[in-house]
Amino acid sequence: MVLLTLWLTWAAASADTTKFDVQPFKINLGSEIPRLHALVNNTRLPSKALYGVGQDKGIELDFLAELRREWLEVFDWEAQEAELNRFTQYTAEIEGLTVHFVHEKSADPDAIPLILLHGWPGSFQEFAPIIKPLTTPTENVSFTVVVPSLPGFVFSSPPPRANWTVDDTARIFNVLMTEVLGYKTYALHGTDWGSVVGYSMYGSFNTTVRAAHFVFLPFFGPTPEEIAADNITLSDVEKVAENKGNLFVSLGLAYRDEQTQKPNDIGLALYDNPVGQLAWIGSKMKLWSDPRAGTPPSVLNTTAILTSVSLYALTSSFLTSVWIYASNPNGFSTTYSQAPTDAPMLFSQFEYNIIFYPEEYVKQTTKNLVSYKVHDFGGHFPGLDNPPALIEDIREIAAVFVR
Ligand SMILES: *[C@@H]1O[C@H](CO)[C@@H](O)[C@H](O)[C@H]1NC(C)=O
Ligand SMILES: *[C@@H]1O[C@H](CO)[C@@H](O)[C@H](O)[C@H]1NC(C)=O
Ligand SMILES: *[C@@H]1O[C@H](CO)[C@@H](O)[C@H](O)[C@H]1NC(C)=O
Ligand SMILES: *[C@@H]1O[C@H](CO)[C@@H](O)[C@H](O)[C@H]1NC(C)=O
Ligand SMILES: *[C@@H]1O[C@H](CO)[C@@H](O)[C@H](O)[C@H]1NC(C)=O
Ligand SMILES: *[C@@H]1O[C@H](CO)[C@@H](O)[C@H](O)[C@H]1NC(C)=O
Repeated sequence: MVLLTLWLTWAAASADTTKFDVQPFKINLGSEIPRLHALVNNTRLPSKALYGVGQDKGIELDFLAELRREWLEVFDWEAQEAELNRFTQYTAEIEGLTVHFVHEKSADPDAIPLILLHGWPGSFQEFAPIIKPLTTPTENVSFTVVVPSLPGFVFSSPPPRANWTVDDTARIFNVLMTEVLGYKTYALHGTDWGSVVGYSMYGSFNTTVRAAHFVFLPFFGPTPEEIAADNITLSDVEKVAENKGNLFVSLGLAYRDEQTQKPNDIGLALYDNPVGQLAWIGSKMKLWSDPRAGTPPSVLNTTAILTSVSLYALTSSFLTSVWIYASNPNGFSTTYSQAPTDAPMLFSQFEYNIIFYPEEYVKQTTKNLVSYKVHDFGGHFPGLDNPPALIEDIREIAAVFVR
């Protein structure tokens, strides 16, 4: 009986690490750097830009050339790798996939389990500035933070089939939280494709996901005509956000169509072409960020861009990452629906994000919007572009989370 009790206590307290073959993980890609440097060094760029066009026609040559130079002469992969290895990481086998994840525990045993869901182009690196602060108790609020890599991204293995959807990813991430790690309930945060996965989890696992914070949703924002017809009045910051959103929808979706319709074209063209990946990804990281990116509170500078692209290039995961678009051609919808859950939702709009969601529209996606905030700094990668605001907003989960 004592033994049985002991065993039961052990089984309840510890996650099912054997069944899922949970293994500690450290990034160790330094040996790939000479080859990366050679590829970057041997890639020619034109000596002068065609017609001197600006960022609206794609990445500017001067910016790309400067990033390339920094990659070779200044950027220190080993230092960035050590920074990322400050986080405790594991891999687990779920439904035949190797899922890489950060698992940073709070010292507080009552910390709220929280999963952070990244998007494209991104990785767990997007959340590097917010992970430790969220685990640190502040005004009695703290989180135990889990950051999985989406299937096909960096250290997670690619999906086993072309029709692997965000709902499939949602299912295995719920298994990660509940079965692998043993949390009965948890909160989530989602951005970009991570918000599509997160919204699926929010609606599909309404007994385990008990609060959700989003900066993005699986829906497009309203058109200017819809905003006018709805009599929505906008603040100055919201007007900037609306304008940014309109520009994205009218002139910024070419990459999405490419990646949705012909993922192998761009995926194979750039497969072993780090400077090409830098142009394709760096363009988005620059254009989708606050124009003040890289100045406080933003840490989204050239080092962050090079770390992001290095992660893709060194893991050869660019091709498999773009497949998320092809496998989910209707991942973002113009028709709003409501998630079947009574769990609270919190939403934060950052001024320079690429879609503007007025509060009236966020309310259409949930019965239970408890917080809507607009920030006058930051863009599509708020974990890098305005980490203090994102931390503060995520901490609000504690006020509404019911275990
Ligand atoms: C790049 O190539 C040039 C000459 O081809 C060489 O002098 C330089 O050291 C190389 N730089 C790196 C970082 O490999
Ligand atoms: C934090 O918790 C402690 C002990 O439960 C309590 O005494 C204190 O007032 C709390 N502080 C805040 C800011 O809620
Ligand atoms: C997904 O593709 C596999 C073949 O790769 C097929 O067997 C399966 O039926 C497909 N599933 C759906 C839901 O379409
Ligand atoms: C917007 O305002 C106009 C004029 O006041 C009114 O006719 C219309 O019904 C309003 N629309 C909505 C959606 O409230
Ligand atoms: C980018 O910001 C980080 C701090 O977040 C700093 O360590 C790094 O030197 C910066 N990079 C550049 C190129 O200024
Ligand atoms: C939770 O999801 C189930 C289906 O899995 C649904 O029947 C139920 O109505 C949902 N709960 C709420 C509060 O929407």
